[in-house]
Amino acid sequence: MTTILETERLYRRFGGVLATNDVNIRFGEKRLKSIIGPNGAGKTTLVNVITGRLPASSGRILFRGKDITNRPPHSLIKMGICRTFQITSIFLGLTTFENIRISRQAKKGGSFKIFSSRDSLVQVSEEAWKIIEDLELVDQAGTLARNLAHGDQRLLEVGMALAGEPELLFLDEPTAGMSPAETEHIAQMIKKLSEEISIVLIEHDMDVVMSISDEITVLHQGRIIAEGTPAVIRGDEKVKEAYLGHE
Ligand SMILES: Nc1ncnc2c1ncn2[C@@H]1O[C@H](COP(=O)(O)OP(=O)(O)OP(=O)(O)O)[C@@H](O)[C@H]1O
Ligand SMILES: [Mg+2]
Repeated sequence: MTTILETERLYRRFGGVLATNDVNIRFGEKRLKSIIGPNGAGKTTLVNVITGRLPASSGRILFRGKDITNRPPHSLIKMGICRTFQITSIFLGLTTFENIRISRQAKKGGSFKIFSSRDSLVQVSEEAWKIIEDLELVDQAGTLARNLAHGDQRLLEVGMALAGEPELLFLDEPTAGMSPAETEHIAQMIKKLSEEISIVLIEHDMDVVMSISDEITVLHQGRIIAEGTPAVIRGDEKVKEAYLGHE
């Protein structure tokens, strides 16, 4: 397995709380790794530190062997490290298509100069359509984001991240608040995406985690307490204990 990103002895402290405690984690090329753990285990903090939203207290983060610790988010996005947020961050007053097109434009240079060439405008639109087709949002392309079903809003957010052409994509609870049917749909989308890019999924729905992950890392009080395939994690006693303590 080729490693795309790894952390070495990573720590993040909030006052007296070690939210990330000596984490050594590895993400493989075109693999789907889920990070699970009870509320407050440090899942979001770990992703925030890796994606440059929070500085590490100590330790290193390596992307394809290169030290990227504490680089700002925009520089990481340029390298292909993208993420979605636990709370939806789409533009509600724009359509599905416009949301994706704007993200695509941002990737392509960010300025309105792009409109100086008709070809590049056409190209950006075509690329936006491709993403909309991949996510099966064609019927909703002209719908204002605020009028989309909750599940489609979350899918749109994934689409906006994909417009940045990530090599490594972090998804923080993409199924939060979804119906069972919406959850099943986005889970299959995420699985399909993992054939093309590396995905790190933070997820509370154990059916989703167990059915689509290549491997699972379990965090508890900032530390990794178990790692392995879904079958291994399902039978792990430390994992059961960590969750039972929070029931
Ligand atoms: N900005 C912050 N300031 C202070 N403490 C924080 C901050 N962010 C997180 N923490 C603390 O760090 C720990 C880990 O929180 P984090 O949000 O990373 O957990 P999580 O696993 O994502 O939880 P959840 O499943 O509820 O999303 C918790 O004790 C939390 O209270
Ligand atoms: Mg979280």
